[in-house]
Amino acid sequence: MTNISSTLQETRRFKPDPSFAQQANLGPQLYQALKEEAAQDYEAYWARLARKELVWRKDFQTTLEWEAPFAKWFQEGELNMAEQCLDRHLNTATKHKAAIIWEGEPGEQRTLTYQQLHAKVAQCANALLEMGVKAGDVVTVYLPMIPELAIAVLACARIGAPHSVIFGGFAPNAIRDRVEDADSKFIITADGGWRRGSVIALKDNVDEALATGCPNVQNVLVVKRTNNAVKWTDERDIWWHDTVDSASTKHQAQAFNAEHPLFILYTSGTTGKPKGVVHATAGYALWTKLTTRWVFDLKPEDTYWCTADVGWITGHSYIVYGPLQNGATIMMYEGAPNYPEPDRFWDIVERHQVTVFYTAPTAIRAFMKWGDDHVLKHDLSSLRLLGTVGEPINPEAWIWYHELIGKERCPIVDTWWQTETGGIMISPLPGVTTTVPGSATQPLPGIDAHIVSGEGEDVGPNQGGYLVIKKPWPSMLRNIYGNPERFKNGYYGRFENFYFAGDGARRDQDGNFWIMGRIDDVINVSGHRLGTMEIESALVSHPAVCEAAVVPRPDDLKGQAIVAFVTLEVEADDLESLKAELSDHVVQEIGALARPAEIRFTDSLPKTRSGKIMRRLLSDIASGREAGDTTTLEDASVLNKLRDED
Ligand code: WT7
Repeated sequence: MTNISSTLQETRRFKPDPSFAQQANLGPQLYQALKEEAAQDYEAYWARLARKELVWRKDFQTTLEWEAPFAKWFQEGELNMAEQCLDRHLNTATKHKAAIIWEGEPGEQRTLTYQQLHAKVAQCANALLEMGVKAGDVVTVYLPMIPELAIAVLACARIGAPHSVIFGGFAPNAIRDRVEDADSKFIITADGGWRRGSVIALKDNVDEALATGCPNVQNVLVVKRTNNAVKWTDERDIWWHDTVDSASTKHQAQAFNAEHPLFILYTSGTTGKPKGVVHATAGYALWTKLTTRWVFDLKPEDTYWCTADVGWITGHSYIVYGPLQNGATIMMYEGAPNYPEPDRFWDIVERHQVTVFYTAPTAIRAFMKWGDDHVLKHDLSSLRLLGTVGEPINPEAWIWYHELIGKERCPIVDTWWQTETGGIMISPLPGVTTTVPGSATQPLPGIDAHIVSGEGEDVGPNQGGYLVIKKPWPSMLRNIYGNPERFKNGYYGRFENFYFAGDGARRDQDGNFWIMGRIDDVINVSGHRLGTMEIESALVSHPAVCEAAVVPRPDDLKGQAIVAFVTLEVEADDLESLKAELSDHVVQEIGALARPAEIRFTDSLPKTRSGKIMRRLLSDIASGREAGDTTTLEDASVLNKLRDED
């Protein structure tokens, strides 16, 4: 979490380079004009952009229907998302340009032009239809970072089947929960994927998930990637190379309603159950297209690389949908940043002449730790713009990024947004904004972001408060899959008419936003959201555990690390091996990214008189801070005991 007193002292300012501003897609004049247009007539602004940017098969009449928290954008309109990304480029020069340049971790390379990608997507769409997938059916996609991941996602979009991508690092139980929640009947996976020189056996994980649940799954489509042995269920499993590769490359894309669900993406919330964030087609298409062009200043000649996995929203919006709509060339890399050596990313940048590079602060901090030599031995002069996302970037990492990677030449865009917002909301514009290390600066034109008090009143400069979005925006989530109550309470519960994102923030005297971190029970580990309840449920499901409380502790590398306080059901002889066992148990239940950095056994947890665990106090202890307000604590001695156990 960014510390207010430290960021208040951040006085360095970086004005846009005039020569960059001159060539920028969005310069100062256009920026002013857009802001004024949005302020003057909000709906007309969005309607104009939607008609200009998207290929409509049928025009819309209503720009916005808003009954908080339910929004409908461009509701009579019809379009096809795959057409926005692919078909529209086929009668332009973009047709023969590389859409995806892919590199596998072991080093193999593939390039797909827009025309080739279009053909592959058509084949996959035809194969899915052949399997019996219908518009509206949720297709689960659990793949490594290979071109088939982008192909699968676009094929689903093409036939109106909402995709639910599950990050390849998730464990069988997490797959099962998501497949069941979405009642998904079809899964696309691979035999495996490469990570740090070993195979992650994805198909095995799917098999295990299906052995313990998901009775409605009809088919599993399997890409052969790593050639490891897989178990086969004849009536259920289908090889990709047997069906997709022989399918027709012709597919007439049908138009779908603007509000047709494009995808579900599961994210962590404050309760144990992951929530399926639902995004609609047209609004999401519009905002990912615009933000990609504005924030990353993408030009036809750019080679753009976002290092996220398509399993997260960053990959959905800024590897697949945003860049492809803009006809960009995307770099896609399968594996770890330090394999075979810690210079892998810079090696890729140099060899492929990457121009725009988008990564997470946690990765930047890892590169800093690995040493400057790995960076300095590569020629990074192709780079012209850098971005970050996922968590607040500490000014020290920002400056390192600016000096070592950007050679003080490249603007840095620190982009604040969320799974739920669909696209970037607060970010510098590289040709317009004076950047300040550690601040995501200002909302983009059309985004109505404010900092408010608990009563919903705007607060003054440098006062902390809740970060809210007052007006609905086109790429906002439409629902939590199958749970409108959770949608309403989770996002429009605290303030009836404002979207509340879960982040605390302040605005400085220049109007720049400083994100202070989550105020809810969500931990941000390496830019990934994990619900404390989810990890607690996993711990409590172990027979030795009675109660568990999970809290964040600041971590130099990951931003936040997970600390679990656990009370035991039974007396254990070997506490160290039990710790290891519980740690593995969490990994088994959720996935490696949820592994606790520390487990502490204790006799009792601090609770309020009404019996709620006071995680805030535990977090103070885990972080070595003075405990805050303890007046509501039921038994004050618990706190001292916990400290003594430290
Ligand atoms: C949470 C959303 C959006 C893609 C990646 C994460 C934190 C995200 C920033 C930033 C400070 C940030 C917030 C937010 N966050 N970007 N630039 N500065 N904090 O998506 O998993 O939905 O997490 O990540 O706390 O609420 P997500």
